[in-house]
Amino acid sequence: MNILRNFFNNNTLLKVKRTNGCNILLKNGRKIFDMTAGINSHAILGYGNTKVIAAIKKQASLYTHVDYKFWNDENLVKLSDTIIGNSKNGLKSVYFSGNSGSEACEAALLMSYQTHFLSGNKKKLYVISRDESYHGSTIGALTLGDRKNTHFYSKNLKLKRVKIPMHHPLYLKKDGETLEEYAKRSAKNLESIILKIGPKNVGAFVGETIMGGLVGDVPPAQNYWKHIQKICNRYNVHLILDEVYCGTGTTGKYFCFDWDKVKPDFVFIGKTLGAGYGAISAVITTKKIENILKSSGRLQHNTTYQGHSLSAAAALQVQKIVNNSIFLKKVDEVGKFMRDYINCELQNHPFYREVRGRGLRFSFEYSCKNRNKFSEKLYNNILEKYNILTSTKFHRICFTPPLIITKKEAERSLDIIISEFIKISQSWSNKYNN
Ligand SMILES: Cc1ncc(COP(=O)(O)O)c(C=O)c1O
Repeated sequence: MNILRNFFNNNTLLKVKRTNGCNILLKNGRKIFDMTAGINSHAILGYGNTKVIAAIKKQASLYTHVDYKFWNDENLVKLSDTIIGNSKNGLKSVYFSGNSGSEACEAALLMSYQTHFLSGNKKKLYVISRDESYHGSTIGALTLGDRKNTHFYSKNLKLKRVKIPMHHPLYLKKDGETLEEYAKRSAKNLESIILKIGPKNVGAFVGETIMGGLVGDVPPAQNYWKHIQKICNRYNVHLILDEVYCGTGTTGKYFCFDWDKVKPDFVFIGKTLGAGYGAISAVITTKKIENILKSSGRLQHNTTYQGHSLSAAAALQVQKIVNNSIFLKKVDEVGKFMRDYINCELQNHPFYREVRGRGLRFSFEYSCKNRNKFSEKLYNNILEKYNILTSTKFHRICFTPPLIITKKEAERSLDIIISEFIKISQSWSNKYNN
């Protein structure tokens, strides 16, 4: 074996034969129902979408990639129009930055600083982010994130970065405090740190619109982002939202921040843009920022495969399907249905803490003794006995099924997950209460 993989103790990777809908068929005949949308939650249209595959085939017969800086690929023009759609959020300028969310994050940071630099604010070098956030695995993105197992890199990452506490009502709202009061206090953390560093030194604040993978789908308390936006505007700090995980319709609105009615300066998207049919990412910004950048003659960032043509053809089909009010309404409805279902069955369970999220990005959080082991057992049982793949670890089950999941498929999977949760928890309580 000449492949170096990420996890060294996993020698039993399953062999895939083909994929279809929400299913992964293995060479040994086993069929797995994928509630994770591809482990990384990118496969938002599931697998084998015939329209997307036809678009890729057609494109492959014409050309597979032409350089983003030199040629005009019309699919990119149509894709940018589809992304912008009818939105009234002020974002009008799409920069296709590369293939991954990490690259989009880097591009957003560079575009933000170039904008400040061109506006005469050369000292605005600090970027603020939050504890427990994740923005990618390239150096710039790592400095913003807080994955504990990458902290050993910190000496390599001597950039001007500062973190404020995460935004997490379940963990950080004080007893007796209303959600609105918490939203304000939480946002104030940003203002305090800007004032401490000095507004002239702070360029941007970067946050996932709903805190995603590390803590498990935490939507903000109402008005949190409005407070943050006010603070950013007050000190000329760019608001950069990371929607690599929660963008492009996954929460039931095309952009997740549309729920919060704010106007960020930049938003970046990635894996859900090509949804596994293509590898493409983008940074979206305002005309005002575009014009400042244009004044310099060029945007100081580029990658070879930015706006990759085959990926653009795929992404165009994906986004045409997703950025549609009927499709988005269904995502919202199925997500609500699933959250209500879990709440109804489990809210009185002694391990229950919370079900939270938006659309088809949500988590069920629980608490019990030896939680990691409990999650491991739950994950294994659901997969091995019932062939359902979930993202079950630490303190939560994270639900990110393909957006095409039907209510019937959702109900069948939930019945199994819930009954397995109850079964294991009974033996768990006996084991730890004796
Ligand atoms: C919120 C968020 N930002 C950025 C990234 C990085 O994207 P990529 O893995 O495509 O580089 C991810 C990936 O999981 C993510 O969830």
